[in-house]
Order: sequence, then C-alpha cells, then structure tokens
Amino acid sequence: MTHISQTAAAADAVTADAVTVVGVDKTFETRSGQVRALQGIELSVKAGEFVSLIGPSGCGKSTLLRIIADLDQPSTGRVAVFGKSAGQARLDQDYGIAFQQAGLLPWRTVAANVALPLELHGVAAAARAARVAELLDMVGLTEFADRYPDQLSGGMQQRVAIARSLAENPKLLLMDEPFGALDEMTRERMQTELVRICAETGAAVVFVTHSIPEAVYLSDRVVVMSARPGRIQEIVTMRLDDERTESLREDTRYFEMITAVREALHGGNPGTGGIQTAGLGTASVPVNVRGAETR
Ligand SMILES: Nc1ncnc2c1ncn2[C@@H]1O[C@H](COP(=O)(O)OP(=O)(O)OP(=O)(O)O)[C@@H](O)[C@H]1O
Ligand SMILES: [Mg+2]
Repeated sequence: MTHISQTAAAADAVTADAVTVVGVDKTFETRSGQVRALQGIELSVKAGEFVSLIGPSGCGKSTLLRIIADLDQPSTGRVAVFGKSAGQARLDQDYGIAFQQAGLLPWRTVAANVALPLELHGVAAAARAARVAELLDMVGLTEFADRYPDQLSGGMQQRVAIARSLAENPKLLLMDEPFGALDEMTRERMQTELVRICAETGAAVVFVTHSIPEAVYLSDRVVVMSARPGRIQEIVTMRLDDERTESLREDTRYFEMITAVREALHGGNPGTGGIQTAGLGTASVPVNVRGAETR
C-alpha cells in the first residue's frame, strides 16, 4: 500500500503545475496601519512555462514571488509548488532564486557563493568545481572567481546570484528583476542565455521585470498587475511561437506583443505615446514601466 501511495504521490508531483496560487491575499501590518499588498491572486504556471510579472512599483510583484518561495506567508489563500506546499518545496530545494538584491555571502568568494547550493546538496568537490567553472563562464565572470562580492559592481554581483540560482538546473526559477542592474548588452546576452537554459532544462520561470520588451522576449505569458492592492489585471499570452532568436527583437510580431502588454498596463488605454497600432514605429516608444507609472 505504502509503495502504491508513494508512486501516486510521485506521479502527482510529475503532473502538477510548477506553481499554483489560489485566492491569495496579503495584508502587511505596519505601525501606521494595514497595507493591502495583494488581493485575489489566482495563477498557475505550467512545468516548463515562462511567466513574467509586470506592473507599477509597489503593486506586490516581489511579495507574490516571496510567497511562492515561502519567504513570506499569504494572509489568505494557498500556494503549491509542484503539487507540494511552498514550505516543503523550499526544504526540498525545488527552485532556484535570484532576487532584486543579489544576497551573496560577503565572506565567500564568487566561486564559493556559486558553489553553495551544490555543497548543501553534497555534490562531490571535483564535480562542484567543474560546474562552478561552467556557470562562471556562462555569466562572464571566470576571471573573478576568487574575488569577494564587495569587490564587484552591482551588475556583477547580480550575475553571481544568477549563476548560483542555476547551479542545480532547478525545475523552477523565481527571479525578481535579476537583470535590473545590468548594462543593455549584458542584459540581452543574459536573456538569450536564460532562454537557452530553460529550453535545455525544461525549467519553469516566474520572472519579475519592469521592462516590457524583456517580458515579451522571454515569456510565454505576461501577467499584468495593477496597483494597490495588487491584483492581476490581465494575462497576455505571447503569440511568438517558440522561436526566441536575436532576429525576433526586430520582428513585427514582437512589437505587436509589446503594444499589447503596454495597453494592458494602461488598462486598455494606450497612454500618451500617441501610438495605438502595432508596428515598427513602436520601437522608439519608451516602454519601461517605471516611466509609465501611475500613482
Ligand atoms: N515587510 C513589509 N512590511 C510592510 N509592507 C510591506 C512589506 N513588504 C512589502 N510591503 C508593501 O507591500 C506593497 C508591495 O510591495 P512589493 O515589494 O511587493 O512591490 P513590488 O511590486 O515588488 O515593487 P517594485 O517594483 O518597486 O519592486 C508595497 O506597498 C510595500 O510597501
Ligand atoms: Mg519588487
């Protein structure tokens, strides 16, 4: 019997969505009163799916990601990760995280920071060193392996955190503005790498960003959130096939999707840009959400 139920549980975990969020509200108690950060969040992310969260500053994106990662608890509602509770998934290290602050250990070198999840999982020293070398090469930090975090720029620290989050090829990545501190060239290179890694490992990703083009380029679906309390306003499915090549960045369909997300953010109102239809002309429109914030 035990054997059968274990098999059933394993099958459940295999067929389960990567993330399921059901009826989640979050209210913070502060000295100056209650802050309603999230209201009525319903979201599921399939295994292997790339979902971005976008919305004005303070709309609860980081809070939602932290709840999925079990770093914070919902006030009501529940979260499952691969069919398990968020807490169990954290204990089982089912996901990798790369958050707004790099969160590196200052007393460890770059290489030792990247090696940490491998050490925690008892990976042998030689295999660990090989994997760390591979990851540092991928994020372009091979020469900095023996430096300490405070000797690196903010963007370099973020790349260390990204390498660390990928160390164990997790089936789920939770990323909060991981490319925010990177220059445009490095950012595009990291986006391309992330797409490649997801295709190779079949990882699902929940990705917070303020950049509409970044969300469109990376995602299968873009979740557009509205401010105070944070709600899901619209979920926009990217109709870009599976092709994520460099030429997509100049493709008409890409600009059409950018316009669709932009209009969803403005609640169906294309805003002050004066451009309502999709097309190459949108390329020069400022599409960064911070610039389009409504408070
Ligand atoms: N620990 C906390 N205590 C009290 N209020 C909090 C706490 N964490 C977040 N908040 C509040 O919850 C709301 C959502 O914050 P959150 O950090 O999730 O926003 P965000 O969408 O990630 O914003 P940004 O784009 O600026 O990163 C904000 O009003 C914030 O002030
Ligand atoms: Mg945030």
